Amino acid sequence: MDAGQWLEKARAYLERRHVPEPRANAEWLLASALQAGRSELALRERQPLSERQQRNFWGSVEQRARRIPLAYVLGNQPFMGLEIKVSPAALIPRPETEGLVCEALELLKPRAEEPLTLLELGTGTGCIAIALARALPQATIYATDVSQAALRLAEQNALAHHVARRIRFVQEDLFGASGPRGWADLAISNPPYIPTAELARLEPELLCEPRLALDGGKDGLAAIRAIVAAAPGVLKPGGWLALEIGSEQGQSALGLLADAGFEERRVRKDLQGLDRVALARR
Ligand SMILES: C[S@@+](CC[C@H](N)C(=O)[O-])C[C@H]1O[C@@H](n2cnc3c(N)ncnc32)[C@H](O)[C@@H]1O
Repeated sequence: MDAGQWLEKARAYLERRHVPEPRANAEWLLASALQAGRSELALRERQPLSERQQRNFWGSVEQRARRIPLAYVLGNQPFMGLEIKVSPAALIPRPETEGLVCEALELLKPRAEEPLTLLELGTGTGCIAIALARALPQATIYATDVSQAALRLAEQNALAHHVARRIRFVQEDLFGASGPRGWADLAISNPPYIPTAELARLEPELLCEPRLALDGGKDGLAAIRAIVAAAPGVLKPGGWLALEIGSEQGQSALGLLADAGFEERRVRKDLQGLDRVALARR
């Protein structure tokens, strides 16, 4: 069979297994097996696959048919133009989180020439800290997670993107932002924010991601509440807090920020018009 026939066979198989967007998934997997770009596939339609390529391709199709997320099967995910290595140790970086990083960069724009010290809580793959470090060459970043496996992955990503010397990865509880006070120009986090009861209703792919990265407690706000309470302690006066939030958590986040004494509080929406980022100034 040539590449085009393998592609059709995979598409039909993924469709039978109820994988969303079966054609696109089959294309990504075939491109990966051929070590080609997805856009090159049309040109390589008549190419026969070597035995090794057939094995790799069909192995990856089988994984996807078991609803393992495409990014875990491929082993990487693009984020802010960077190729981020992923594994089931950490959440797969999302496009919404690119919005969070863009908002943070906008806040820091007036200070582009100054040395900056940033804190990321719950770093996962390290995608946020790494994107910030790449965009802000003068910044030093402390990135925390409770998961040792996630921190190891984040360190590999930081090395691959040549920013490991400016990011210090620390195993620490999100809520324990203790230690020295008043040192961060910006604290940023994409915390777990899905209400526990909603987890059972998620697509099978999401359940492959670490529960620790998703579960926001009974009302989804447990981690957000803890970060908002702890952030004034670590932020410099005038320092910013930037949080990714759930699509209906804007009002609650604004209330928590007001109670904690933050100023210039606002919520930004994502491209679908849903609450996505909360920003406030100490
Ligand atoms: C939603 S994921 C975000 C990962 C990554 N920053 C991103 O945006 O793709 C939340 C992260 O917070 C971490 N986490 C959960 N509870 C934590 C806690 N109590 N202390 C520190 N990190 C925690 C998880 O391990 C996970 O990596």
